Amino acid sequence: MLVSATQMLKDAVAGQYAVGQFNINNLEWTKAILLTAQENNSPVILGVSEGAGKYMGGYKTVMGMVNGMIEELNITVPVAVHLDHGSFEGAKKCIEAGFSSIMFDGSHYSIEENVEKTKEIIAIANAKGISVEAEVGSIGGEEDGVIGAGENADPAECKLIADLGVDMLAAGIGNIHGKYPENWAGLNFETLANIKALTGDMPLVLHGGTGIPADMIKKAISLGVAKINVNTECQWSFQAATRKYIEAGKDLEGKGFDPRKLLAPGYEAIKATVKEKMELFGSVNKA
Ligand code: 13P
Repeated sequence: MLVSATQMLKDAVAGQYAVGQFNINNLEWTKAILLTAQENNSPVILGVSEGAGKYMGGYKTVMGMVNGMIEELNITVPVAVHLDHGSFEGAKKCIEAGFSSIMFDGSHYSIEENVEKTKEIIAIANAKGISVEAEVGSIGGEEDGVIGAGENADPAECKLIADLGVDMLAAGIGNIHGKYPENWAGLNFETLANIKALTGDMPLVLHGGTGIPADMIKKAISLGVAKINVNTECQWSFQAATRKYIEAGKDLEGKGFDPRKLLAPGYEAIKATVKEKMELFGSVNKA
């Protein structure tokens, strides 16, 4: 069932668990994540970056695929389709294409401009019952081989953005996208606790879910994190399983070249990773 992320995240805050946002890249990813959510009776958020949306043939194509699968695969658990790190223009396009949730990432603007633009997106999205995520304090990650450290968001700025009426707030607490460096200092729980103290019941979003140790994930959830984004880890799972298939020469046996066979191990590997994360986040049987 396609829904906004509003109620599922309110329930997550109240129940002290987190809903996973798993980024999609194609049909296999989407089907793997939707069926795993259904099998585990878990709410789920499908993340779509602007790049992935373009890759899949555009936002309307994404919505056609997801809506078709929800109907034909009988997906009854709550599913949100969420623009990940959207630009101002991208957010407006996704709202038109039928996305049920939007992230407007204004973290690279000044706080004043982030406030103005976030307000405008909230007004357009709310009129259509679409949930909105905003970001304060940029999330680091690899760019041209250089791994940037994750910023720590200013709790007062978080409060300012939270009060605009967003449904969820991403705040940098030392988390980064992609692989964490060997010398990573870990999540900054002091910053997280300060943000939580000022923002109350606002569902907080943890980006860069790949590679964060289980104990840190659990502690973050206990401090108000209600949505955790995972992207790279599904890509690694898919890659490793596909590599194994090819290296074992399976694509050369019989009809092993058939994409339905060639992509099957990677598909199953994504399913296993998503299930593992849903169990860790505590969202199993919370649909
Ligand atoms: P990872 O790729 O590190 O899991 O981060 C995903 C994410 O935060 C998407 O917004």
